[in-house]
Amino acid sequence: MVRQSSLVVVANRLPLDDNAAPDGACEWRRSPGGLASALHAILQSTPATWVGWGGGTGDAPDMPDIGRLRIRPIALSQAELAGYYEGFANSTLWPLYHDAVEQPVFDRGWWETYRAVNRRFAEAAAAVAEPRAAVWVQDYHLQLVPAMLRELRPDLLIGFFLHVPFPPPELFMQLPRRVELLRGMLGADLVGFQRPQAAHNVAQLATKLLGAAATDDQIVLPTPGGDRVVRTGAFPVSIDVAEMSALAARPDVMNHARQLRTDLGQPKRVLLSVDRLDYTKGIEHRLTAYSELLRDGRVKVRDTVMVQVAVPSRERVESYQTLRDRIEGEVGRINGEYGRVGEPAIHYLNQSFDRADLAALYQTADVMVVTPLRDGMNLVAKEFVAARADGTGALVLSEFAGAAAEFENAFLVNPHDVDGLKATLLEAMDARPGDLANRMGSMRDHLNRHDIVRWARDYLATLDHSGRIVELIPRPRTPSVPVPLV
Ligand code: G6P
Repeated sequence: MVRQSSLVVVANRLPLDDNAAPDGACEWRRSPGGLASALHAILQSTPATWVGWGGGTGDAPDMPDIGRLRIRPIALSQAELAGYYEGFANSTLWPLYHDAVEQPVFDRGWWETYRAVNRRFAEAAAAVAEPRAAVWVQDYHLQLVPAMLRELRPDLLIGFFLHVPFPPPELFMQLPRRVELLRGMLGADLVGFQRPQAAHNVAQLATKLLGAAATDDQIVLPTPGGDRVVRTGAFPVSIDVAEMSALAARPDVMNHARQLRTDLGQPKRVLLSVDRLDYTKGIEHRLTAYSELLRDGRVKVRDTVMVQVAVPSRERVESYQTLRDRIEGEVGRINGEYGRVGEPAIHYLNQSFDRADLAALYQTADVMVVTPLRDGMNLVAKEFVAARADGTGALVLSEFAGAAAEFENAFLVNPHDVDGLKATLLEAMDARPGDLANRMGSMRDHLNRHDIVRWARDYLATLDHSGRIVELIPRPRTPSVPVPLV
């Protein structure tokens, strides 16, 4: 018998990732990326069901509950992975939604697979949702699910949240399937975005493409059964602040941070970047700026080191493979030109790190450099702030990350402007401790008041005015349940 829940979350990824070991055995790891971490933090203590993909192909694996959270895995075949995930989601929508910083690919074959996989997710969610349950659909992979679910289960309350930017209308209009994609998303009762501009863009498109009457917080859609109201709004996502603060305060993590500094040769300054290896993250622009600072003699390898963590991501997608080649070529060039024996200019790590190791790295950094060309939010910036209870450390942050709207006291920068980026890096490196403490203090105040629990509760309270659903998300923070290794 199918177990049903009153809250169902539907996201492409489950919080655990099925990484097949070289001998073919199944090895679960925490999923990469901010979305899975953020949702995992709130849902582990919530009686809900998470519908998602476990990262492998073939039959869906059996997965145990995590805390109070039930897991409902979705199977993907190799061909579906190629057409739905690597294709339409990550080679068409992802680059287009990020200002087309990489050319989106319009392949007519991918659409049918995207639609079929969205239907599978919708059917799975419909099967595990209690009568009048709330179903909360996440991100660009599943943009057709809200309308499909409404057809299958008109009794449900349906939410959709887009973690990535929603592009300006001129860009969205390039999509051959723009009407279906817009209608799919607007199948929800409430569509949430990271920033208000996204709701404005969708309102313009709904007016133009669907003949709706739209404002920035409401879209009235004409349908054969009469008008239907879709609410929209900005709900900036956040992190589990308590988890990162607790990790950063652990004695073993603090020792590890000190050890890292020793391993780096006790430099005067450590610059750190932590990104998924993705062309939206501005890694190449950052390397250019840093190598020019070395060339100009403004930064000396002897007293400054840069650590670039580039977490492997979407490795079968060609644009990610060529990006990796370019980055590694550039890191090699910079180290070849400016490094010394035992003193590389850049420490480049193409690996995943666990949460405790990340917390140690965040504490080791004097300057955290987060300079995406476009980013829905960027939770690394928030994690860094959460890890710096002592008020030290500078955050250099791209104006094009959603987090910039909340961290006005970061060293904000336009990453496309290499000269501006160089100047801002120097400013952050040379800032007075008092200035840094003021900036960090105000960012920490903001973050402490806006953590992931608040995000989920704000969203769910807006979706469901009765208050029935929001009460499923515990108000006081409960300690994190570690991800079980199975
Ligand atoms: C971004 C997306 C998420 C995604 C994450 C990791 O943050 O908004 O939906 O899960 O990247 O990417 P991946 O392709 O590994 O799921």
